Amino acid sequence: KKVTAFAPATVANVSCGFDILGFAVDSLGDRVTVSLNDTNEIRVTRIEGDNGKLPLAIDKNTCGVAVNAMLKAMDFKGGVDIELYKGLPLGSGMGSSAASAVAALVATNRLLGNPFEKAALLPFAIESERVACGAGHADNVSPALLGGFVLIRDYHPLDVIPLNVPRGLYCTLVHPHLVLNTADSRSVLKQHVSLKDATTQSGNIAGLVAGLYQEDMELISRSLNDVIAEPSRSILIPGYEEMKEAIKTAGALGCGISGSGPTLFILSPTEEIAWEVSRRSQAVYEKVGLPIDVYVSAIN
Ligand code: HSE
Repeated sequence: KKVTAFAPATVANVSCGFDILGFAVDSLGDRVTVSLNDTNEIRVTRIEGDNGKLPLAIDKNTCGVAVNAMLKAMDFKGGVDIELYKGLPLGSGMGSSAASAVAALVATNRLLGNPFEKAALLPFAIESERVACGAGHADNVSPALLGGFVLIRDYHPLDVIPLNVPRGLYCTLVHPHLVLNTADSRSVLKQHVSLKDATTQSGNIAGLVAGLYQEDMELISRSLNDVIAEPSRSILIPGYEEMKEAIKTAGALGCGISGSGPTLFILSPTEEIAWEVSRRSQAVYEKVGLPIDVYVSAIN
């Protein structure tokens, strides 16, 4: 028997929520197919769509790490074959490693008769993020698994809170063709935050969460600011300032770095505006001279 699961791209941080906020988009992602084998090994038997870049070794491949952690926790002695079909570009900031791990966990859980509740799969996915980028951040894997907007209120112990998704909210993802790996874009971050910045950031996080619940697009817009990670990271992304400028008069709510970049996310209050943002981003990057892919998606 073979079981296949899909997990979507995700936008981590959502500007102000470094490592604690993320949301899932609905149109693109990774697929994983799993089956039992008659050895006692976990094997990644096939990867498509990665241009040969991902490792098959199960202690390096995010699917392998996640499934290994899960099977260990249930003391499962059999073997599992994993086939990964990448829909997401690597090193893009769209939660590519998270989508692979989550799809692998959901498929394996189903294959074994759902021994785990959905949310109980999260620690295994976080383990795979630790291997993929050196930090066990949960702001991609949580929305990839649970959908919608998710808050990670705490890591120790893990406390993950699904949030409301306002009706009509759309996202445009602009992916300039550069690779930034998360470990590198974490290494440029300041290790200390001033009291003033901590206050500003807390206000914005609270404002964003309130805005999501009140479905108050203006409040969401005012809260999409990041004084902690964006200043150090945006300089790695050509066209970032130009994009911020270009969306201002389109009616979009705000623009930020998706996860650790280089993809940018832009939130809009309607699908129409999200498409207008997509057109403007083509014009911006034509000037910058960098090829891009653009996706418009609802948040699910
Ligand atoms: N919160 C993580 C970071 C997300 O910003 O490094 C990585 O996709």
